[in-house]
Amino acid sequence: EKGAYEHYMLKEIDEQPAVMRKLATEYFDENGNIKIEADLLKAIEASDRIYIVAAGTSYHAGLVGHELFEKLAKIPTEVHVSSEFGYNMPLLSEKPFFIYLTQSGETADSRQVLVQTNEMGYPSLTITNVPNSTLSREASYTLLLHAGPEIAVASTKAYTAQIAVEAILAKKLGEERGIEAAKDFDIHLELAKVANAMQTMVDEKHEIEELAEKNLKTTRNAFYIGRSIDYDTAIEAALKLKEVSYVQTEGFASGELKHGTIALIEEGTPVIAIITDEKTAAHTRSNVQEVIARGANVITIVSRSLSNAGDQIVLPDVHPLLTPLVSIVPAQLLAYYTSKQRGYDVDKPRNLAKSVTVE
Ligand code: M6R
Repeated sequence: EKGAYEHYMLKEIDEQPAVMRKLATEYFDENGNIKIEADLLKAIEASDRIYIVAAGTSYHAGLVGHELFEKLAKIPTEVHVSSEFGYNMPLLSEKPFFIYLTQSGETADSRQVLVQTNEMGYPSLTITNVPNSTLSREASYTLLLHAGPEIAVASTKAYTAQIAVEAILAKKLGEERGIEAAKDFDIHLELAKVANAMQTMVDEKHEIEELAEKNLKTTRNAFYIGRSIDYDTAIEAALKLKEVSYVQTEGFASGELKHGTIALIEEGTPVIAIITDEKTAAHTRSNVQEVIARGANVITIVSRSLSNAGDQIVLPDVHPLLTPLVSIVPAQLLAYYTSKQRGYDVDKPRNLAKSVTVE
């Protein structure tokens, strides 16, 4: 039930800190050890490469998963859009392991790939919000998102839950494989920090509402830019804005702007820069200067430790691999308020269905 909320989307954005806390209880025992079935871990460890297959927002959660599995578990990982992968399969490694990310567990594009990899005899895991969904039943293993029903067409809490579950799994795999980065990563503590940071962001929703009103309410187009893990967030943030507010929005790797896209920047074009990655922060800052020089209205979404006076949205610091969980929250809110201010049906954008059961 929506309760006091005008829309499910805002309710579901607000629920994200609670979902992080719920995952920290569901996936850990009383001693703080991660609870994931041994057979699943063995099956992944026996493989030589992870293939993440998903659509839409779940694909974007997969992009972050790629960072997590490679950095924490040192397992080579590829991420693919299911509607492409199924009809144009790349050469596979010798022992692939497939991860299907799907909120609904019913996405036809992803299912057609699972049918094929099952025929090929490859092991698989579905990470989903819906127990007993089709992709859950047909995969070898399932991990649940525990996010509660997601009603709004725009996925918000399922996206952050997917990233959190990937992080828990990557940590566990890395620990078992003796990877330093995983041993040093206290995921239970880090998820608690993320929950608090998300709470800070949802508590600042009225400032974000004002930024939407000032920068996005009447614009024709908009850009999100970022590098590295912030580029992953930029494409998810762009999808969120375009699907609910119908503003033509693209997410770009900041460094690519000068290779073409910067031609689109005019007086007043909104450019939203995400800066949470220490290694690339200075580079994205200089890209921000370049678009300002061409008249862009810039909004910066920046981790506190990297922030300057003049940044519009400052995020509490969390572990560098988990910043996408926090930086997406203001972007979700910008999308929500832009849609609402334009008078659209926030929870049911035109032409879209919650669960896409056709290929
Ligand atoms: O249920 P799934 O996670 O498989 O759905 C995949 C996409 O259809 C879904 O994420 C879609 O992109 C959302 N509307 C994005 O907000």
